[in-house]
Amino acid sequence: MSQILGHLKSITQPSHDRLETVSFAHEIMSQKITRPQYLQLLAKTEILYQAIEPVVNQFIKESKIDKISPFISNRLADVKKDLKLLNGKQPAYILQDSPVRIHALPALIGTLYVLEGARLGGKVIVRALQKNTELADIKDFHFYEQAGIDTRQRWLNFRNLAEEMITDSAAVEVAARAAQKTFDFFYKIHRKPLSFIEE
Ligand code: HEM
Repeated sequence: MSQILGHLKSITQPSHDRLETVSFAHEIMSQKITRPQYLQLLAKTEILYQAIEPVVNQFIKESKIDKISPFISNRLADVKKDLKLLNGKQPAYILQDSPVRIHALPALIGTLYVLEGARLGGKVIVRALQKNTELADIKDFHFYEQAGIDTRQRWLNFRNLAEEMITDSAAVEVAARAAQKTFDFFYKIHRKPLSFIEE
């Protein structure tokens, strides 16, 4: 089904905009994010990727569909490295159970749409973080840098995969619902300040 990503974009655009308002987009892009804000951003990102990535990766592995395997995601390891560079404290909570469920291929595509799309902003974000004076001592931004990943090419490959896998309107519906739920989950985690265990 052609234009599946165009459809997902049009229905989730308001969610992207809403998410930006709670995830320091303005502070990042104006190179004025503070250290505590950057810590919030990373710690919440860790919570999110801890809940999403294993579910996505397990579905991909169990599906045994070769074409999907390039979309296994390993960004959790990167965000952990970044938190170490900040001497990150332990968040006061972790999610015991992942709220993310993927039962079918169209739901995987909808979820991946959000994860793969989130990579696109990364290369822009990293340039802003590198110029942010309050973070001047931080030499690596692993999560946003995505070393070795050509995000543009990966996105084009994902678009081709999505068009091949989503073949009818019922599948479009399922993918759209999964994308929306994924954005909602990001918003839910980002909208509240995260507290940390004090040592
Ligand atoms: C500081 C926060 C963010 C900024 C500044 C940002 C910025 C951007 C930009 C500039 C693009 C267009 C990239 C391009 O076409 O080359 C984009 C696309 C996208 N972003 Fe973000 N983003 C942010 C956070 C996120 C997050 C946290 C998510 C997901 C949870 C996300 C999901 C997406 C998706 C799905 C697309 C693809 C839209 C499409 O073309 O279909 N973004 N973002």
